[in-house]
Amino acid sequence: MEVNEVNIDLLEKKEDAIVNRHLGFNIVIGCIAALAGILFGFDTGVISGILLFVQKQFGLTAFSTGLLVGTVPAGALIGAFISGRIVDHLGRRKLLIVTAIIYIIGTLGCTQAKTPELLILSRFLVGLGIGISSYTAPLYISEIAPTHFRGALVSLNQLAVTIGIVLAYLVDYSLAPTASWRSMFAVGFIPAVLLFVGMLFLPESPRWLVFRGKVNEALKVLSKIRPAPQVEKELQQIINATSKRADWRLLLQKWTRPALLIAVSLAILQQITGINTIIYYAPTIFHMAGFQSAQSALLATVGIGIVNVISTIVAIPLIDRWGRRPLLILGISLMTISLAFLSYIFYTQKITDEESYIALACIIAYIIGFAISLGPIAWLMIVEIFPLEIRGLGSSVATACNWGSNMIVGLTFLTLLAWLTAAGTFLLFAVISIFSLIFIYFVIPETKDTSLEMIENNLRAGKPTRYIGSNV
Ligand code: BGC
Repeated sequence: MEVNEVNIDLLEKKEDAIVNRHLGFNIVIGCIAALAGILFGFDTGVISGILLFVQKQFGLTAFSTGLLVGTVPAGALIGAFISGRIVDHLGRRKLLIVTAIIYIIGTLGCTQAKTPELLILSRFLVGLGIGISSYTAPLYISEIAPTHFRGALVSLNQLAVTIGIVLAYLVDYSLAPTASWRSMFAVGFIPAVLLFVGMLFLPESPRWLVFRGKVNEALKVLSKIRPAPQVEKELQQIINATSKRADWRLLLQKWTRPALLIAVSLAILQQITGINTIIYYAPTIFHMAGFQSAQSALLATVGIGIVNVISTIVAIPLIDRWGRRPLLILGISLMTISLAFLSYIFYTQKITDEESYIALACIIAYIIGFAISLGPIAWLMIVEIFPLEIRGLGSSVATACNWGSNMIVGLTFLTLLAWLTAAGTFLLFAVISIFSLIFIYFVIPETKDTSLEMIENNLRAGKPTRYIGSNV
């Protein structure tokens, strides 16, 4: 090998090491912020195993039990809605720190509550935390992440949500013999404290800093998270794309309306295609599908949680490689087919053993479909599609719509089962999924490999909704 070739080789290796070091730091940031996802999954999942014990201890009526379950999505809806302007004023990092404190106080309240009222109030606080962090964590990560890894890094948050759900199932399952529901809630302390401490050490989003006119601070942050040659260029791109006018009326202007349409529709479609009928009511569904013993229904539920985690892990690298649209289309197609089959199985009067297993296979396929599509990608696109000056506000509105639809599906599912039967209910979700597929095919853009600033430029240029993610 010539001396020159050796030098070039060494130089390339050094550059690779620098790029890897910076990417490593981005991954650390993503993982810490994604602790918010663990809290989201854990605190929404843990209640199912706790209900029985709390009902017994406090002698809860059906109404107060409903209230206890419903306060979290209600709190989340309110938390998401009221925090949009705060995240644009206070900053992403500071709001995440405040949210960690809300989680800590709420969890403390849950473990100590001596009356049902205090328990409901504490769960409401936890709900507020979930509502705020369900979009501020992905938002923060999306503004830190390098363009080509944005999908994967932001989706660490969804992976954390799925892990939080399994954690909740396992905690409920293992502590059930002790009947210690306070200890079940208490596990939520660990990610809350870790989030609080971790966020104290992380930098603020450079995009938010530029937006607030703190260009020098943004430069410092960018120097930590990007290799040196990229820093100036990226800073300049952010500055060029940013106007300093934060005004909620911008959300309804002609050029920003496509972003609102994309974010709100993905937020709603994520819920009305029925994911939480499975996540929240899995034991009931398995029971209907012929898994008679409580033990087997519970085991199948934990299995579903694990499939959710594994499929999300598989999806993460594909989001930036294949892109958002192919995964959405593939995943929702799978969801639609599984729902249609499930409906058909429930249509048969008496479910045979064989059909029970086909039903299980349908539910697994449905979860895989969700985990590679609407699960991670709805949250990702909600935070990447808005222009900087209304990114917080816009994502907060879309997130509130997500929690609103979550509540509606959760509240109506059992009634739908009674009215339409299981076959009719799953057929309804299958039809909604087909509608979602058509809508996404014609309206939702591809945002892979496109910088947040380019998306903003496309919006300003008035490109059709479907091409807002275009890179040229
Ligand atoms: C949804 C939740 C759902 C979870 C399941 C999240 O993306 O927002 O409603 O329970 O995924 O993995």
